[in-house]
Amino acid sequence: MPHFAGIRCCVFDAYGTLFDVHSAMAPFRERLGAQAEALSAVWRRKQLEYTWLRALMQRHADFEQVTREALAFAFAAHGRTDPDLQDALVAAYRALACYPDVPGALARLRAAGVRTAILSNGTPDMLAAAARHSGLDGLLDAVYSVEAAGVFKPHPSVYRIAVDREAAAVDEILFLSTNAWDVAGAAAFGMRVVWINRFGQPPEHLPAGPEAVITTLADLPALLDPYDEVNDARHPP
Ligand code: LAC
Repeated sequence: MPHFAGIRCCVFDAYGTLFDVHSAMAPFRERLGAQAEALSAVWRRKQLEYTWLRALMQRHADFEQVTREALAFAFAAHGRTDPDLQDALVAAYRALACYPDVPGALARLRAAGVRTAILSNGTPDMLAAAARHSGLDGLLDAVYSVEAAGVFKPHPSVYRIAVDREAAAVDEILFLSTNAWDVAGAAAFGMRVVWINRFGQPPEHLPAGPEAVITTLADLPALLDPYDEVNDARHPP
C-alpha cells in the first residue's frame, strides 16, 4: 500500500462516499413497496447522468433541482407519480445517514493534524444540512460546493476550488471518493486520490485513476500516518 506523506487536507466527495444516498428512501419504504430499491437506483443513476449532461450542455442548475428532476424520471419509469412523496424524498437528501466508518475516520485525521473537507456537487445548503444531521459538522474544517464553479464534477474547475480555497499545493491534498468516475476526474486534474471502493466495483477504464484503493474509511488514517499501529508494533519505542 503506498504511503501518503505531506498531506495537509483530506477532501472527500459527499454523496455515496460520506452519505448513503439510498438512506433517503428509508422512511418511505412502506409507501414505495417492492419498487423502493429499483427506484432509488434509477434515481441516483439519472441524477449523475443529468449532472454530466448539464455540464456538457453548459446549462448548469443546482444539485437540488437536478435531484428533483432525476426523481421525476425515476417515478415515471416505474409508472408512478406522487408530487408530495417526491417532495419528501428530495427533502430527505438533507437528512441522509452517513456511513458508520465516517465519524471515526474524520476524528482520527483531525487528531493527526490533517484538515478535513467536503468537495461535492451538492449545494452549500444541502451539504450543511446533511453534515449537521449526521453530526459531521464538528468534524469538518470546510465544505466546498461546485456552486462556486457553476459546473458539475468532473469538470477540472471543480477540483480547483479545493486547491485554491485550501491555499495548498495540489500534492498536499488527498481526494477521496467512492464514485470511481469522480476518482478519475480528480486524478485527471492532478490530485492524489484514494478510491473508497465500498461496493466492490470493477475499476473504470478512464485516463487517470487512484494511487490506492481501500474498502472502508477505517483504513485511511493508516495510509497517512507512518507511525500507525502496525509500524508501532514493529518498532516499539
Ligand atoms: C458528489 C457526488 C458525486 O457528492 O456524489 O459530488
